[in-house]
Amino acid sequence: MADVPKDLLDQINKLEDLFIVDTQKLKEVTDQFVSELRRGLGQDDATIPMNPTWCMAFPDGNETGTFLALDMGGTNLRVCEVTLTEEKGEFDIIQSKYRMPEELKTGTADELWGYVADCLQQFIEYHHGDEKIEQLPLGFTFSYPATQNHIDHGILQRWTKGFDIDGVEGKDVVPPFEAALAERGLPIKLTALVNDTTGTMIASAYTDPLMRIGCIFGTGCNAAYMEDCGSIPKLAHMNLDPSLPMAINCEYGAFDNEHKVLPRTPYDIIIDKESPRPGQQAFEKMIAGLYLGEIFRLVLLDLHQSHDCEVFAGQDISKLQKAYSLDAGFLSAIEEDPFENLSETHDLMQNKLSISCTKPELELLRRLAELIGTRAARLSACGVAAICKHKGWETCHVGADGSVFNKYPHFKVRGAQALKEILDWPENKGKGKGDPIEILPAEDGSGVGAALIAALTLKRVQQGQN
Ligand code: GLC
Repeated sequence: MADVPKDLLDQINKLEDLFIVDTQKLKEVTDQFVSELRRGLGQDDATIPMNPTWCMAFPDGNETGTFLALDMGGTNLRVCEVTLTEEKGEFDIIQSKYRMPEELKTGTADELWGYVADCLQQFIEYHHGDEKIEQLPLGFTFSYPATQNHIDHGILQRWTKGFDIDGVEGKDVVPPFEAALAERGLPIKLTALVNDTTGTMIASAYTDPLMRIGCIFGTGCNAAYMEDCGSIPKLAHMNLDPSLPMAINCEYGAFDNEHKVLPRTPYDIIIDKESPRPGQQAFEKMIAGLYLGEIFRLVLLDLHQSHDCEVFAGQDISKLQKAYSLDAGFLSAIEEDPFENLSETHDLMQNKLSISCTKPELELLRRLAELIGTRAARLSACGVAAICKHKGWETCHVGADGSVFNKYPHFKVRGAQALKEILDWPENKGKGKGDPIEILPAEDGSGVGAALIAALTLKRVQQGQN
């Protein structure tokens, strides 16, 4: 950054102070994380909900049958038909993707369930035509926090990821969904309501027996792992066999809602304040894909307005003023710009925001993207490390999915490096491959995972365990 003027360099230094999370802080965050996870297992009103999911087994590879899987994750809606074949661990899948219209996220509950049921209807008509089909069991991946007393029900605790539909929170989402299916005469029976993290864990464990945790680093961030019933004090009154496994959907996007330990910047505070649910998902708002571009935008606006430096001086910044106009893909592209002169970043800023950047400004943009992306990856590692510390797991595999994990440059290496720092691994570790705790790309959780959970549920019902 030889030719960056002093005022911009000062700004970069200030941003580094705000966004860099050192090893000591990572460890502090992880320790607090462990205690919040444990609190969640003990009481119903804890910050991290630690929701029991009633998914109570790993697959053994011998599951068979045909299942529908519906994924309502936030960005797209996907319907799959998964056939688990007689051959151990094998499956066939057909699938269709539908757009999830933005308006739906803030519309009415009737519109939401109507749209979801319409997509299922289209899927059945397209793939089965007039063929008479028997009732199909469905695994519904509903990736929001839900209180479950049974696997085929779920009371929405609160919307996350920018959803804001009235009249759904605090209620069981299954009856209105089933009513919309019945109205259309669809031969579908909801068998399991599944979180994407649980689906990810189960799908990954199907092919890898070392898998212990399923994570999503995408629009939102969260993880699930297998607990034993005896270690879930809030279920003690149910007298479950303490040795039985129970998948816990942590919902750890809510970590540190009380603001005890996370190094929040003024930009994180604005994001929270302006979101539909202020005070919630504190951790998620610092690291998930939905928010990365917005953090970047808020910093740029602040720099432009600051009297201490000249950023985008004399330019029309009206496009930059639009909330959520930049997504994580925008940041990814900046971090990926291969050119010495950052010409791709220059074109991006020009095309997307009509801002023409000087070379020093481009340098600042690149560093800022790096800072935001690195902070996200490093803090993400704290959640994984905390589950492993809580369980005393020194080695295991973690299955991860989501747009940030799959597409954001360097996310995986930065996360692995942070795990190494938190867990004090020797110098030659922290590279990802071959690490004691390895975060690996997951199998398709909301398709195959949801189908497997439906299959495991039917097996439990047949065995009279439900
Ligand atoms: C949000 C949701 C959670 C989901 C995660 C990843 O945190 O509340 O249920 O697992 O996003 O999609």
